[in-house]
Amino acid sequence: MKNIVILISGRGSNLQAIYAACKAQNWPAHIVAVISNTPQAAGIHWAKEQGLETQVLDHRAFDGREQFDQALIRLIDCYKPDLVVLAGFMRILTADFVMHYQNRMVNIHPSLLPDFPGLHTHERALEAGCTHAGATVHWVTTDLDHGPILGQIKVPIQSGDTAQILAERVLQAEHSLYPDIIRQLIEKE
Ligand code: GRF
Repeated sequence: MKNIVILISGRGSNLQAIYAACKAQNWPAHIVAVISNTPQAAGIHWAKEQGLETQVLDHRAFDGREQFDQALIRLIDCYKPDLVVLAGFMRILTADFVMHYQNRMVNIHPSLLPDFPGLHTHERALEAGCTHAGATVHWVTTDLDHGPILGQIKVPIQSGDTAQILAERVLQAEHSLYPDIIRQLIEKE
C-alpha cells in the first residue's frame, strides 16, 4: 500500500475526485492525510466528514516561508508519503521543500503547459484566441509550473465562453485527469 498526502488551500474538488477514484477503483493506496494551510478551506471540512485524517498548518503563524515550509515537511513526513499531491495548494514553495519531495510531488495546473504558467490561465487563453484550453499534471520542480509533464487533457474553447465558463469546463476535465495520473503513479513498481 502506498501513502498519499494531499495538500489543499480551498474548495478541494480535485481532492474529492481523487478520493472517489481511490475508493471506487481499489487503488493500492491510502490517502493518509489531507493538509491545508488555511483553516477555513472547504476541502478540509469535507475531508473530515469522510473520516480522513486532516491537519491545518496556518502559514500566517510563521515568520517566513522557510519556517513554514520546514514545519510542513515535518508534518507531512509523519505520514511517510510515497506521493505528495498538490491539489489547489496556493503557496509558492521554497527550493528546499521542493527538493525534499523530488520525484514524489505532483501538481495540477489549469492550462496546457508550457502555455500559461502562473495565474489567470483562462483569461489569458481567451485573450490569446486559443481554440483549446486544458489542464496539465506535472512533477513539481523548483521552476514554477515547469516540471516534467505526466499528462494533459484538452477541452475546446467555445464561442461565448467567459473565463468562468471555461474554468468550469477545465475543472471537470481535471477531475478525470488527476485521478488517472495518480493511479498510474501508484500502480508503478
Ligand atoms: C484547480 O483549478 C487546479 O488546477 C488549480 O487549483 C484549482 C483547485 O481546485 N491548481 P480545487 O480546490 O481542487 O477545487
